[in-house]
Amino acid sequence: MTHRLFEEKHHASIYQKYRFVPPDEVRDIILQYLDRKKGRPHALAVDLGCGTGQNSRLFAPYFKEMVGIDISECQLEEAKTVPGFNNITYRKGTAEELPFPDGSVDLLTAASAAHWFDQQRFLMEATRVLKPHGCMALTCIANSLSLHYGSCGDRLTDIYNEVNKVLLPYTSTQVDVAYSKLEGLYAAIPFPDKER
Ligand SMILES: C[S@@+](CC[C@H](N)C(=O)[O-])C[C@H]1O[C@@H](n2cnc3c(N)ncnc32)[C@H](O)[C@@H]1O
Repeated sequence: MTHRLFEEKHHASIYQKYRFVPPDEVRDIILQYLDRKKGRPHALAVDLGCGTGQNSRLFAPYFKEMVGIDISECQLEEAKTVPGFNNITYRKGTAEELPFPDGSVDLLTAASAAHWFDQQRFLMEATRVLKPHGCMALTCIANSLSLHYGSCGDRLTDIYNEVNKVLLPYTSTQVDVAYSKLEGLYAAIPFPDKER
């Protein structure tokens, strides 16, 4: 089953406006890992569940080509409105059925998205499309956030924790997978040299 909770135009426009860009430190860890495991050149990166493209844009400058894939047309429409990234294309599709030949992808990323995928089908497909020594990087926002804004960081963090506690009983079980830092998915990754 594909989860379709990110479909509406309004939802997508809020994503575009407020969604966190993953930190540069995380990007650097991933690129260094790729350099170490596969070496350059880095031709093709694919960002799965790309949403409005924050993570796709973060990695695009380091690859000849970046393809963002998402099941939601509205998310992709928002992603396409951001100018200045000529090597990115956005395509509608699913992480479980990728439109790439065997052994063709240098880096597969999924930022706060892999918890929505069908684990087994996604891992089989990732294994098929990655180049030898190509890499997969799955990141997510954990439950324990601390927020920073001027001098009100602590207060914001308290408000976040309070709201989160109220909403937690109503969240989807898939969100629990993200909050567990993708524990089950990590365990299922079949690559012997995987790293947390
Ligand atoms: C929480 S959002 C994350 C978006 C973006 N990566 C970010 O960090 O802002 C999850 C995205 O995954 C997409 N998605 C969910 N299941 C999918 C699947 N099976 N294949 C492709 N995209 C999927 C949703 O449409 C949504 O845009």
